[in-house]
Amino acid sequence: MSVAKKEYKRVTVKSLVEMKANGEKISMLTAYDYTMAKIVDNAGIDVILVGDSASNVMAGHETTLPITLDQMIYHASSVVRGIDRCLVVVDLPFGSYQSDPKEALRSAIRIMKESGGHSIKLEGGKEIKESIKRILNAGIPVMGHLGLTPQSIYKFGTYTVRAKEEEEAEKLMEDALLLERLGCFALVLEKVPAKLAQKVAEALTIPVIGIGAGGGVDGQVLVTHDMLGMTHEFNPRFLRRYLDLYTEMTGAFEQYITDVKSRDFPSNKEQY
Ligand code: KIV
Repeated sequence: MSVAKKEYKRVTVKSLVEMKANGEKISMLTAYDYTMAKIVDNAGIDVILVGDSASNVMAGHETTLPITLDQMIYHASSVVRGIDRCLVVVDLPFGSYQSDPKEALRSAIRIMKESGGHSIKLEGGKEIKESIKRILNAGIPVMGHLGLTPQSIYKFGTYTVRAKEEEEAEKLMEDALLLERLGCFALVLEKVPAKLAQKVAEALTIPVIGIGAGGGVDGQVLVTHDMLGMTHEFNPRFLRRYLDLYTEMTGAFEQYITDVKSRDFPSNKEQY
């Protein structure tokens, strides 16, 4: 299939808006470390998200809530050292922006100054309007995140599809329009009905990047460890696995253990 694609030497927040206007879909993946970021960037990804999903896939927590601002800065600075071309978006972690707009701005500034990331993402709409305004006023680009917002998991109780009912769908649309009006450069929509996601994407000029939000949006994001098949116990319907790294890696580790035990490794050629 031919793919509409303009060559960008560096992807900026402006490039993403331009991609939407030109009908070019936006590709986004997560990364949390230097080596992975380098591979993902070299492959030509448009956006790397240093997601607070690091709390799950890197640290093994059940939710995204425990990860700290210092830990996000550590992950983000490692990613920034690995990339040449893509835009780097960094999640503001739970507890670093919800209490008041001044704290939100301080957290966003720490991310920008200490990690070298290019923009931040936070979860929510109207409730965090003042924080978003303050961060934007400081010249920091903001990506919104609506639908399933994992930092509020204890309020929702489950990770099931959001905004299936009309009232919640209406609020989501209002929040999306608000985020655009405030000046956010893009929006992530997580786990919402495809029809609603398409309606939101059509109503906005800023790009809507979906995860479990169907094909009618302006781009897609997946957690890299999931799409590589490293996290084989996580199987949502929206996830396409491009590799089965869990099996591949297990095979490689088993072979290494066998080689060490049997004295096959190292061979004469593998020593000095
Ligand atoms: O933290 C993350 O990886 C995310 C994506 C699921 C969008 O927010």
